[in-house]
Amino acid sequence: MNTKCKIKNAYDESALQYDSFVDCGNSHNSIAESPAVYKLLTDIENKNILDLCCGSGRYSLWMARRGAKITGIDYSKKLIKIAREKADKESLAINFIESDIEKVDLGKRKYDGIIIGMGIGYIRNVGKLLGEIAKHLKINGWIIISTNHPIRESGEYIKDKEGNIGRTVFTYFSKKPRMVEWKHMQSITGKKFEVPIYPHSIEEIVSALFNSSIYITNIFEPRPSKNNLCESELIKRMACCQQFIIYRGIKVRM
Ligand SMILES: C[S@@+](CC[C@H](N)C(=O)[O-])C[C@H]1O[C@@H](n2cnc3c(N)ncnc32)[C@H](O)[C@@H]1O
Repeated sequence: MNTKCKIKNAYDESALQYDSFVDCGNSHNSIAESPAVYKLLTDIENKNILDLCCGSGRYSLWMARRGAKITGIDYSKKLIKIAREKADKESLAINFIESDIEKVDLGKRKYDGIIIGMGIGYIRNVGKLLGEIAKHLKINGWIIISTNHPIRESGEYIKDKEGNIGRTVFTYFSKKPRMVEWKHMQSITGKKFEVPIYPHSIEEIVSALFNSSIYITNIFEPRPSKNNLCESELIKRMACCQQFIIYRGIKVRM
């Protein structure tokens, strides 16, 4: 099975569990990633926004509830089904499309904003993808990419003799997909998930954005908020080691 099929199958096979986990209060994402993304999603009412790798619609629904006109694209049949059901339940008119974002034909449409939430790690050639999708951004339109921090993808957690948490960094510049074990999904589904993910260095993403005429306005490495600074191991790790990185840019010329 090729890399793309492995990723698609893993999301199809864990769709229900993924959906109930990603936005629950104690996932990594809801502790640090989504709060930082939501802060960037301002002035979205009546704007045409493309949500690439939309999954079960976490960001699509959030934006549609605030009046944005959303097109969400994902190649997982099961996640798109869940996204459609959730939108119908809330009577939100979202255009969900089941497709590979590297192959989808967006015609001549141009958007006010494009978001890729936690999806870029599944794309091998980020420069090519961003070059293509930037053609569908209006001038001054924005793009937001949230993803795992490349340092998180390059090593493992360690603890020194005093119990301080740190990270090893082994493979920062590797281009090979890394196999990630979804331990949490395994524990709830009983199935083994080993999902390939492409590590992208900061330089790689920044260059891909610049080469697509996108000027970077913000880079965030979000940490848990003060309210979350309790003693759990997860929060301790997240407070001292990089988990996510979020890029925002605007299109400056065609
Ligand atoms: C971590 S999930 C993120 C989903 C959603 N954006 C969110 O934040 O909850 C990654 C998503 O990327 C999708 N994906 C990965 N590669 C893709 C591709 N080439 N085309 C379309 N969807 C893709 C997967 O199906 C999955 O739904």
